[in-house]
Amino acid sequence: MRFVILSVLLLLPNLSWVEASEKNETRTASKLPNIIIVMADDMGFDDISIRGAREFLTPNIDALAYHGRLLDRLYAPSMCTPSRGALLSGKYPIHTGTQHSVILNEEPWGLALNATLMPEIFRDAGYSTNLVGKWHLGFVRPEYTPTYRGFDYHYGYWGGYIDYYQRRSQMPSDNYSMGYDFRRNMQVECTDRGVYVTDLLTNEAERIIREQPAKEQPLFLILSHLAPHTGNEIDPLQAPEEELQKFVHINDPNRRLYAAMVSKLDESVGRVITALARTDQLENSIVIFYSDNGAPSVGIFANTGSNWPLKGQKDSPWEGGLRVAGAIWSPLLKARGNLFTQPIYVGDFLPTLAHAAGIELDSSLHLDGIDLWPQLSGPKDAPHVPREILHQLDDVGRMQSLLLGQYKYVNGTTSKGQYDQLLTYRKLDDLDPRASIYGMAVRNSAVSKELASFDIQQITQDRIDILSRSAAVICSDMQRGCNALLEECLYDLSTDPCEQNNLAYSKQHSEILAIMRQRVQQLRSGAVAPGNRPNERDADPSLHECTWDNFGVKAPCAGK
Ligand SMILES: *[C@@H]1O[C@H](CO)[C@@H](O)[C@H](O)[C@H]1NC(C)=O
Ligand SMILES: *[C@@H]1O[C@H](CO)[C@@H](O)[C@H](O)[C@H]1NC(C)=O
Ligand SMILES: *[C@@H]1O[C@H](CO)[C@@H](O)[C@H](O)[C@H]1NC(C)=O
Ligand SMILES: *[C@@H]1O[C@H](CO)[C@@H](O)[C@H](O)[C@H]1NC(C)=O
Repeated sequence: MRFVILSVLLLLPNLSWVEASEKNETRTASKLPNIIIVMADDMGFDDISIRGAREFLTPNIDALAYHGRLLDRLYAPSMCTPSRGALLSGKYPIHTGTQHSVILNEEPWGLALNATLMPEIFRDAGYSTNLVGKWHLGFVRPEYTPTYRGFDYHYGYWGGYIDYYQRRSQMPSDNYSMGYDFRRNMQVECTDRGVYVTDLLTNEAERIIREQPAKEQPLFLILSHLAPHTGNEIDPLQAPEEELQKFVHINDPNRRLYAAMVSKLDESVGRVITALARTDQLENSIVIFYSDNGAPSVGIFANTGSNWPLKGQKDSPWEGGLRVAGAIWSPLLKARGNLFTQPIYVGDFLPTLAHAAGIELDSSLHLDGIDLWPQLSGPKDAPHVPREILHQLDDVGRMQSLLLGQYKYVNGTTSKGQYDQLLTYRKLDDLDPRASIYGMAVRNSAVSKELASFDIQQITQDRIDILSRSAAVICSDMQRGCNALLEECLYDLSTDPCEQNNLAYSKQHSEILAIMRQRVQQLRSGAVAPGNRPNERDADPSLHECTWDNFGVKAPCAGK
């Protein structure tokens, strides 16, 4: 008798595993996959530890990649507004009027209203659609705001950034007053003031995930974090004191704060995965983590983030601004635990995830993004799709940046060329106390604990070493400089991922240069006018009970 009970107990873990895998097969047949996108704001390319940095660790984000796929060459426009616009519309910024700079809170414009957005498409397919956190695609009038653009629900802020505790912001330009910016749908939300915003947004994401099963609808959730963007001008980097204590080994006080901010973000990814697991939704979910653009290492909103060894940063035409940290996990991916090495653009997520959800997209959408679901979800060595990505075509800022196959064309740059170089290096001292047990830290992370049950093979120390090594970017040692302010630059990213060797004067490359130049002209002829509008005094929070509120009662183009 005793023996029988014992053997049943021993069998239990196996039994529950079989049960779980059977459940996912019956569920996937009857239910569309949940889509969860966790977005970081201004996080550096090298600030996820899977790339090899050991100053601070991101075990949860890394675990998503070790159990899923590191999006090794994920590209996004190099600033918040165009990047978020490309994600939601599946179009290049030149097709939604967001190609120049960002929307400042006091400017009366937004993402073109005639673009159909991802949340509208998923809502029409039966999803409940939720945005938690940042919007930054305009709020001059209600119709520009999230709940008018396909989200059933929004909890968060409309503008570019807020203070991590006070949830208010002052714009860098002119003399607009400080304004509170936090809402639940259209209502100003004042409760929980003083709670660290990364925790606050994660609490809300957890609540939505917990309450989802009762709705009997698939979940579409974008958790759009503030972290690690700066919070305000006087006190730009903010983290809870107890989190900061974990990083006393980092000497630079700003970098120490940044590490603590990223650590809270990493914890958020862990909490999201745990919440999905506890409610049996993980087995039918697609989870993506990524940063909207590269880190601003220097200049306005500088947060000490590192895009090493890539050149440039946020708001520049270089890889450091465009090639972003990202990973995807889902049991629907056949090949997991490897690098996805094909170039993928944030604008690809719309058609790619629509395919995963069996949604047929109308060709009248005229998307620039392409469906990469067969490659993402298919075998590890799926052939690369020949690819063009228009990174930038900003004739106000006089800058063009285009990827075509292995080549990258850059003409013009930002901030008088101040960001046209490598801006950070990887610290080899100030190591995280967990650096020597990195593999264990990953395996003990909340994410790894949940995702391990979906794997046939365990993630061993060997596998971690191999993947981490293959995620390291190796720069070429060939060097021929280029001054993008004065001349066109051409790089072969297949041998020169760090853009150090200008090929624009190489005879051998004159043909590809001419093709790319011509292609930019072609794309230019299809661009809509930039939507930017000058400041409006009516936006001042002092006129709206100290909040950033809808301030344009008239249509922007209607006569005054
Ligand atoms: C600053 O504010 C004052 C009054 O509120 C206004 O008259 C002035 O034009 C503003 N300055 C700028 C540069 O906007
Ligand atoms: C179900 O889960 C198992 C692991 O638990 C995984 O191997 C399988 O691919 C999943 N099947 C589907 C259809 O999602
Ligand atoms: C390159 O930049 C120059 C100077 O701004 C501009 O005149 C030219 O049209 C640009 N080339 C392309 C292909 O856009
Ligand atoms: C969509 O709106 C933009 C800006 O509001 C405009 O320039 C563009 O022509 C419109 N596109 C279509 C297809 O109506």
